[in-house]
Amino acid sequence: NGVAASGPLSVQQKPAKRNQVIDRLIASYSTSWKKHEKNFQFYRSLLGNKCNAISAAVVTQRNSPTGTNITFDADKKKILEVTPALYNLFPKETPFIKAPLDTCAVVGNGGILTNSSCGKQIDSASYVIRCNLPPLKNRHEKDAGSKSNIVTANPSILMQKYSSLNERRRSFVEDVRLYGNALILLPAFSYRQNTAVSLRALYALEDFGYNGPQAVFFNPAYLSNLKEFWHTQGIRAMRLSTGIMMVSLALELCNNVHLYGFWPFSVHPYTYQQITNHYYDNQPVNHRVHAMPAEFEALLNLHNKGVIHLHIGECT
Ligand code: CTP
Repeated sequence: NGVAASGPLSVQQKPAKRNQVIDRLIASYSTSWKKHEKNFQFYRSLLGNKCNAISAAVVTQRNSPTGTNITFDADKKKILEVTPALYNLFPKETPFIKAPLDTCAVVGNGGILTNSSCGKQIDSASYVIRCNLPPLKNRHEKDAGSKSNIVTANPSILMQKYSSLNERRRSFVEDVRLYGNALILLPAFSYRQNTAVSLRALYALEDFGYNGPQAVFFNPAYLSNLKEFWHTQGIRAMRLSTGIMMVSLALELCNNVHLYGFWPFSVHPYTYQQITNHYYDNQPVNHRVHAMPAEFEALLNLHNKGVIHLHIGECT
C-alpha cells in the first residue's frame, strides 16, 4: 500500500489507497529541475504582453486616474467611477518599481507544507509572496517560514474573522503586523461586496498601522486579462485561485520563481497518507469556483519546462 511514512504527518495516520491520478502526476514530475531560460522568457513575454503585471497588477493613481471607470472582474455589471477621494487611496506608482527581482518564493497554503521543513528555504528567497493571511508563527515557521513581501487577503476572511471590520479593528491591525512591511493585496474590485470591507482594511492600517503593512488593491483589468490568459492554457474555472494569480505575478516580477505549498489533493504524493487541505487547518476548497487540480497540472507543465520550480514534499 505505497511507501511507508517517513515521519509524523499532518493528519490522521491512516494510509490511503494508491491513487492513479497522483501516481501519474508524480511520475511526470521532473526531480532534476533546471531553469530553461528560453522557455522562461517565452512565458514571461506571453504574460507581459497580455497582462503587464508591473504596471497593471495593482490599482495606482497612474493607471486609474480620477474620472476613469473601474469594471469589476467577477461582476462585469458593476462599474465604479474613480472619484478624487478614491484616487487618493491609491499608491502613486506601481509598487513593483524594483522588478525584475532575483528569486521569489510563492507560498500556497497546501497541507503538503506540514512537516516539510521548507521554512528556511522559503525565507532565503529575495521576495516572498503568500496567500490569504496565513498563520506563520510558532509551529508553522519551520515549514512555512516567516518572511513576507506580499500577502493577499480574501475579503471572506475579513468578514468571518474580523466581523467585516465593522466593529473593533485593533485585532486585525495587530494580527497583520506578523507580515512586517508587506503589501496586503486585496481584490477590492472583483465582487461588489468586496469593496467596502477592503476600503475599511486600508483605513484600519492607515489609522493604526504606523510602520506595518500597506494595503493595495488588485486591478480588476489585470485579473480579467489573467483569466483570459489561463483560459488559453486550458483553465476554465469560474475564478482563478489566488495561488495561480500569485505565480503569474511572480513570473513577471522575478527571474527565479519557486513554489511551495501547491498540492490540491488529499493524499500525500510519496507516503499516500491523508493530508489536510491547509498546513494550518482542514477547511475544504470551494470546488464550485476553482479548478485547482487543472491549475496544478498547468503548473507542473511549467515546472517540467524549466519555467518555475515547483517544490513538492520535504526540503533538505
Ligand atoms: N493551494 C494548493 N493546494 C492546497 C491548498 C491551496 O495548491 N491544498 C494553493 C491554491 O493555489 C490556493 C492557494 O494555495 O489559491 C492559497 O490557498 P487557500 O488559502 O486555501 O485558497 P482558497 O481559500 O481555497 O481559495 P482562493 O484561491 O480563492 O483564495
